[in-house]
Amino acid sequence: MLRLIHTCCAALLVLVAAAAPAWAQFSLPPLPYPVEALEPAIDASTMTLHHDRHHAAYVSNLNGQIRANPALQSLDLETLQGQISRFPLAVRNNGGGHWNHSQFWAVMAPPGEGGTPSDDLLAAITSSFGSLDAMKKEFSQAAASRFGSGWAWLILTDDGSLAITSTANQDNPLMDLPEIETGAPLLGLDVWEHAYYLKYQNRRVDYISSWWDLVNWTEVNRRYNQALA
Ligand SMILES: [Fe+2]
Repeated sequence: MLRLIHTCCAALLVLVAAAAPAWAQFSLPPLPYPVEALEPAIDASTMTLHHDRHHAAYVSNLNGQIRANPALQSLDLETLQGQISRFPLAVRNNGGGHWNHSQFWAVMAPPGEGGTPSDDLLAAITSSFGSLDAMKKEFSQAAASRFGSGWAWLILTDDGSLAITSTANQDNPLMDLPEIETGAPLLGLDVWEHAYYLKYQNRRVDYISSWWDLVNWTEVNRRYNQALA
């Protein structure tokens, strides 16, 4: 009996090893807070599915592209975004999905813990939009009006101003594609139905409105300073 158990365990180890490809390069980052930490705006079930299933699938599928696209082995995730036009659509979708979701978890914080825009960022927002509320309104309109699945973004453009943009599917403002308004992403909101449908069903506008309570301005400030540098 013991011998049988030993044999089964050995076979299981072989299967596990085979399931984790030796060429895997990209990995799923853990959430920076518990799955229930963003309630009530985003419920724990949505967070679990979104991170553990959807984001994990983008990572797994991206790793699955490495053998067919060896150049991926020498690129970090952010550098890949700026060279995405070199690669097939599967890399664009899954590489974008991995980067977009990684930033999404980071630009959110539990309610009351996200801080406020820094003086410098607030001055830039006021200069570009008139006020923080005006920026939020334009961003929310971009998020609400994105047809189908995609993202809304606050970006720092090459001329030093801030702008609101929106991308389809898993595209983002770092991608070197002709249809993309490029810039340094400071804040990105996922408006795929998988991000909100369990709690909000078709009420995307309500999800967007609630989401502002979760913005991690401390991280947005850091991204702004990094982009300026
Ligand atoms: Fe998503």
